Amino acid sequence: MQTISRILPDEAATLAAGESIGRLLGTQQGSTLRLHVDLVGDLGAGKTTVVRGVLRGLGYTGRVKSPTYPLLENYRVGDLNLAHFDLYRLERPEAFIEAGFDESFVGSGVRFVEWPAQAKPYLPAADWRLTLSETPQEGRLMSIEALSSVGAALLADGTL
Ligand SMILES: Nc1ncnc2c1ncn2[C@@H]1O[C@H](COP(=O)(O)OP(=O)(O)OP(=O)(O)O)[C@@H](O)[C@H]1O
Ligand SMILES: [Mg+2]
Repeated sequence: MQTISRILPDEAATLAAGESIGRLLGTQQGSTLRLHVDLVGDLGAGKTTVVRGVLRGLGYTGRVKSPTYPLLENYRVGDLNLAHFDLYRLERPEAFIEAGFDESFVGSGVRFVEWPAQAKPYLPAADWRLTLSETPQEGRLMSIEALSSVGAALLADGTL
């Protein structure tokens, strides 16, 4: 499937990349849009910064904090629900089910998941894998890989 890559020289570029994603999602029919994005990258790679940008691009003006206990922050923007998970502190994969987090993946909505491997094998399949990696300079390399036909169609839109 399809992959795009972008160099993000600084935090502002990461925010801007997130905003582009948010604007793209905003052009979709919010009440039926269903997208699950796994966010992959080391501690401090910029995963939360991307989600902050996405919410800004969707028109959300409130504060976006890194999800701490209970590892999930829910947002409503217009008719779109966005769930932001940070599973870094998930004690065991089974805790994903015990916390009822699987219910967040039912029906329409957008889901961003930091540290998805922590919930394996209980985390549903993602539509995109967004990876942030170090570059020789200060910045980051972002790649978005489509893992489903829904994810591929959104990437193929070409606006990112
Ligand atoms: N493209 C970039 N270049 C340089 N620094 C960046 C870039 N994008 C984000 N940062 C910085 O990286 C730091 C960590 O960002 P962030 O909290 O989003 O990381 P994270 O991947 O969510 O980390 P964690 O796994 O701990 O939740 C922030 O200080 C942010 O300013
Ligand atoms: Mg984070």
